[in-house]
Amino acid sequence: MIKNTWYVAAEPGEIATSLLSRLILGVQVVIGRTESGQAFALEDRCPHRFAPLSLGRVVGERLQCGYHGAEFNPAGQCVSVPGQANTPSNAHVRSFPVVEKQGYIWIWMGDPELAGDLRSIPACFYRSDDPAWVGGYGHFESLQVNFNLINDNLFDITHAEFVHPESFGAEEMRIYRNAEPGEAYIDQKTTYTIAEREIVFRMQSLNMPGGPFYRWMVATSLGKNEYTGPVDLDMEVSWAAPTYTSFLLNARPAGQPREQGVQVCNMHSVTPASDFTSHYFYRSVKDYGPAELVEPFMQGVKAIFE
Ligand code: FES
Repeated sequence: MIKNTWYVAAEPGEIATSLLSRLILGVQVVIGRTESGQAFALEDRCPHRFAPLSLGRVVGERLQCGYHGAEFNPAGQCVSVPGQANTPSNAHVRSFPVVEKQGYIWIWMGDPELAGDLRSIPACFYRSDDPAWVGGYGHFESLQVNFNLINDNLFDITHAEFVHPESFGAEEMRIYRNAEPGEAYIDQKTTYTIAEREIVFRMQSLNMPGGPFYRWMVATSLGKNEYTGPVDLDMEVSWAAPTYTSFLLNARPAGQPREQGVQVCNMHSVTPASDFTSHYFYRSVKDYGPAELVEPFMQGVKAIFE
């Protein structure tokens, strides 16, 4: 497992009202927010009698152990022990750098001296934090699989033709077979660019039946329940090291310019829990439609991923 990189630790909603305990890279971590709103992550074990700190509570800017009430600041230093005038200076819990960005709470499990390098928080996730894009979150806790197999699945577009014909369509997905270097959108082709941390595919499929999900995008963009005409589709797939994939879909009635298409972005990230278990997070947003459309949109997205 790669340690010196940023991983998704939690969705904001998971720590909005309570503490969260999650196994990350083999370490049980408690993630929470102080009363002023500062996110923190500490090893989930009190140094006194090893109670899980996630069973305690936040008191002001401190995390109070639920067993004997010792209190720790976000840096993990014990700052108060009930019944003692002096606080032992060596009473300390391991703390982990956290940052809030791109719609998630991120954690750095490696050398804290290197945590200032934010490049591993994928730029292609920016829509997650952009108010012009609305949607929801989902995740699978502790899948019984090494994180690289989920990575394989997300990076491997060849499976979509066979696994997702009832959502993304089969014919549309075959364009991966015609891949070549470049960054243009070309009908019935896939082009790709490779950079230091990111690989980007661009696919285009014009005047096609469109998988049901794309037809749903077009229908809802037109305020209709159904759209049966041909569809033009562009898709940009960005894979960022080590475990991030973003799928940007642009769909419109055949013949309309790309700028008039409506867009959906599905962002996926994988956080290793251990060598054999992984947390799989997804964030799905769209750039169109009324507020009432968010729930059916997320229901559709969940049905695909689950
Ligand atoms: S176990 Fe935490 S204060 Fe005793």
